[in-house]
Amino acid sequence: MAEAAPSPRRDDTGRPDELKKVHRTETKTKTLAEAKRQGPTLDLVKADTRVRTFIRSANAQTGAIGYTEHGERHANTAADGARFILKSLGHEPRRCEVAAVAAYLHDIGNVVTREKHGQTGAIIAKDILEDLGFDIEEIAVIMGAIANHEEAEGGLPVSAVSAAVIIADKSDVHRSRVRNPKTTAFDIHDRVNYAATASEIKVSRKEKLITLELSVDTEVAPIMEYFEIFLPRMMLSRRAAEFLHCNFALVINTTRLL
Ligand SMILES: [Fe+2]
Ligand SMILES: [Fe+2]
Repeated sequence: MAEAAPSPRRDDTGRPDELKKVHRTETKTKTLAEAKRQGPTLDLVKADTRVRTFIRSANAQTGAIGYTEHGERHANTAADGARFILKSLGHEPRRCEVAAVAAYLHDIGNVVTREKHGQTGAIIAKDILEDLGFDIEEIAVIMGAIANHEEAEGGLPVSAVSAAVIIADKSDVHRSRVRNPKTTAFDIHDRVNYAATASEIKVSRKEKLITLELSVDTEVAPIMEYFEIFLPRMMLSRRAAEFLHCNFALVINTTRLL
């Protein structure tokens, strides 16, 4: 059975309770000593030539077999989301950074094959993160998170970082991910993604609630199609939220469905 996530620290931030996901977090300037103490960051990972090449190639290859966008846009959105979820729940900054790294790399295994891309991705990430100077304990957490992000591959939340990666990944449903230029040739995946005109993660630390809010154009895809595709993903997101001691809510067009 999965081990429970460590409890977040007491809220002493004085911030408003409900936080909304921001799309990009700003980079702060650090002293050299601070940077060394904090360890390698997401920025270092993003700048690595292997990471850039593998993610771009993985995106091209998933495109060639008809999948939606799986490139740097998706990696950045997932990284921002995972960091945001743990930060909002009061987890320590280093764990939030580790979650952002794991989320950024979660689909890198698509550079090998789509099948089992979670597992291949974990192995690919290990070598790169070792070279970049990540602590081996952090690498272990990141490997588990990458290998467990996919519902179709039996993925389950195995740590707080893994839970945050799952929710951030599954919540990236958006029109901009569709690559098929012909709306008349859309399959159900294209239709459901194309129908989503806005998606937002909200976290209420006080209510212990993580909400995915979607705006769906029901003329493009009926809500039933959304469920047909996304129910297993939402079930995994719910398990991930529970791992973080939260409930999970799905709101589509202002109606709460889960
Ligand atoms: Fe994936
Ligand atoms: Fe993904």
